[in-house]
Amino acid sequence: MPKKSTRKKSSKCAADPVLLPLLPLRDIVIFPRMVVPLLVGRERSVRAVEAAIFSDDTILVAAQRSVEVENPEPDDVYRVGTEAKIIQILKIPDGSAKVLVEGVQRRRITRFLAQKDYFRVKTVPVGESQRVSARLRAVMRTVADLFQIYLQINPRVPEEIAPTIAEIDDPERLADTVCAHAVLKVAQKQELLELPRVEDRLARLVDMLSQENEILKIEREITGRVRDQVEKSQRTYYLHERLKAIEDELGREGPSGEYAELDKGIRAAKMPPEAEAKARAELEKLGRMQPMSPEATVSHNYIEWLVDLPWSKETADKTDVKRAERILNEDHHGLDEPKERVLEYLAVRRLAASLTGPILCLVGPPGVGKTSLGRSVARALGRKFARISLGGMRDEAEIRGHRRTYIGALPGRILQSLKRVGTRNPVFLLDEIDKLSSDFRGDPSSALLEVLDPEVNTAFNDHYIEVDFDLSKVLFIATANTPHTIHPTLLDRMEIIRLPGYTDWEKLAIASKFLIPKQLKAHGLARRKVEITNEALLRIIRDYTREAGVRNLEREINKILRKLAKKIATDGRRDGLKVGAADLKRYLGTPRYRRETAEKHAGPGVATGLAWTEAGGEILKIETSVMPGKGEVTLTGHLGEIMKESARAAVSYIRAHEKAFALPKGFHKAKDIHVHVPEGQTPKDGPSAGVPIMVSVLSALSNRPVRGDTAMTGEITLRGAVLPIGGLKEKSLAAHRSGIKRIVIPRENTRDLDEIPPRIKRACTFIPVETVDEVIAEVFEAS
Ligand SMILES: Nc1ncnc2c1ncn2[C@@H]1O[C@H](COP(=O)(O)OP(=O)(O)OP(=O)(O)O)[C@@H](O)[C@H]1O
Ligand SMILES: [Mg+2]
Repeated sequence: MPKKSTRKKSSKCAADPVLLPLLPLRDIVIFPRMVVPLLVGRERSVRAVEAAIFSDDTILVAAQRSVEVENPEPDDVYRVGTEAKIIQILKIPDGSAKVLVEGVQRRRITRFLAQKDYFRVKTVPVGESQRVSARLRAVMRTVADLFQIYLQINPRVPEEIAPTIAEIDDPERLADTVCAHAVLKVAQKQELLELPRVEDRLARLVDMLSQENEILKIEREITGRVRDQVEKSQRTYYLHERLKAIEDELGREGPSGEYAELDKGIRAAKMPPEAEAKARAELEKLGRMQPMSPEATVSHNYIEWLVDLPWSKETADKTDVKRAERILNEDHHGLDEPKERVLEYLAVRRLAASLTGPILCLVGPPGVGKTSLGRSVARALGRKFARISLGGMRDEAEIRGHRRTYIGALPGRILQSLKRVGTRNPVFLLDEIDKLSSDFRGDPSSALLEVLDPEVNTAFNDHYIEVDFDLSKVLFIATANTPHTIHPTLLDRMEIIRLPGYTDWEKLAIASKFLIPKQLKAHGLARRKVEITNEALLRIIRDYTREAGVRNLEREINKILRKLAKKIATDGRRDGLKVGAADLKRYLGTPRYRRETAEKHAGPGVATGLAWTEAGGEILKIETSVMPGKGEVTLTGHLGEIMKESARAAVSYIRAHEKAFALPKGFHKAKDIHVHVPEGQTPKDGPSAGVPIMVSVLSALSNRPVRGDTAMTGEITLRGAVLPIGGLKEKSLAAHRSGIKRIVIPRENTRDLDEIPPRIKRACTFIPVETVDEVIAEVFEAS
């Protein structure tokens, strides 16, 4: 066998233990048949080489376990090494030597014999001869193929050896050659060296090479990509430089022009020092960025925002209270109390140099003029007007902005609005502050608190702008439909001004003095003789709208004017047009609301209550029907919990006093009671329906009808006392709207009668009561 003869030739004594000088190698594993030049520098190693030359020219080369060890002891070298023949030696004057060795055979060290200054080792050969089976051939072919690929993609191995590999058909030789040339770690190579069977070695090589190939492929992909990117950015850079040069040549302003513009902007903005420093630093950064790159755009936008904010721009206040009063009256009819309060507030703010007053909050049903009163305040003061709607806002970032690290980040709505108005002292309306909500994205009301708190709003921090902005010059005014859902800490900072809603006559005046002239102008009819009669207006107010404010009224007027405008355009008519009550059906269709005719006999079981919702006051028709049954009480019509409880309390009261009410004994066991509050679309709650519910149930049980012209409100206790209620003004407006003539109210509410419009007091009788008995005495029809 060729292998055997090879071994005979290369090693004199294959089977016997052989003593050899040891040459430890730091970071190389030498395989048989490999010719390697070594630079031998260490004193001990030079001695070992000399000893080898002196005896038989062979030496055992074995790798160190660690590169760092300077004078390796037996434990520091691997047990398996290669016997090598010294082919050539070249001594260098500094004492070291260049040695050319050729690997001969694997050998295992069995003993170390310490000499004076080197080691001699006792060794036995490693390796088993193996028959070349078909399987071995297959593995050989795989190794050869993998190694071809390896050579192609690994730039660190010379490709010249490729043809040689293909020709090798001795497995040992193939394994050794591949091991010698593959770029592997010392530990990996040592592992290969130590495997005695060639088939195992080749199999291991298959593993290692496929893994290496995989890694190399990925590496190549990555470098390819990186190179592409580098080339691309170099290209853009180059193109930009070219462009700059061309523009310079043409005398146009390039990116540097943009830089200069921002620079000018920063100077003109008169920012506080901190903000200016920030802007300058950012501009500096921008100068170093590649123009048109995404970062540069972000940076540019940021500087623009800083430049555009009104850091120091403000309008001069018109402090004349007389003038302010005139303007408020010009814009709005009535609203005497709110106007008065606003004027007082302005006067105080004018006198007190410190502007730390509470925030005004205008509270009232929709369409009563809260937003427009805010606008009017701005006009009265000669300030700009900004407005944001907080309704449904649930994200803190809407107030305070997003950090610049987010794509498309912007400042919050407060600073956006200030930028839009361009002054730092506008009247700023925070609309619908009661509709603010909060969830996991943070609580906007806490951010708002910071906006409104005069202690801290001198340094309002927006996440995007990052530097503090002084909001203390802004006059904040809030609006809400109800104070109940305003965040308590916010409410604490506010002074509530109520706008309760209008009577029909007030609406009439608002319509003829404000809404109609405004809409005539808007429809280009200002100079036509168009008239809507008062009778028609009242009819619209009563039969086409049902509201506390005037928004729908305005809408209906709009509708009429639109149709008139069209008519004039198509008919070419130039003369005046008059819209009377009889024409309304033509313009607006059939009336939407049927006025509850107060005098109508509704039969037993129906009582009129009064409710107070966000939309203002409302009348509630409460109906009860009684049928034979088992004593069940059913409540329907979208009632809230509190309302249900007061219904149950009312039934309990009646049961407890069945004798006094002349009801059959134990009636409740034989009857089912069903209480219903129609028009279930608006949710109703609150305890003030206690009185009307009780009256309605009693009326049904005793079969006595309730007076149709009488409405009632009040909470009742189980002992029959009538407790006070809120919103009397709104409720009486609603009662009056519905043609009610008598209103039963809790005695404690008589003090609220002062704020009821005189016109209503003249039209309605208010009947104060303290107990249920007094109620009963007033509300039933005389039998
Ligand atoms: N007293 C008034 N005098 C003149 N115009 C009025 C008066 N009250 C309301 N208006 C007009 O009615 C319209 C609706 O008012 P506005 O939008 O201010 O209502 P709002 O109270 O803010 O309602 P919401 O709660 O729905 O926001 C506006 O055109 C406003 O000018
Ligand atoms: Mg509004």
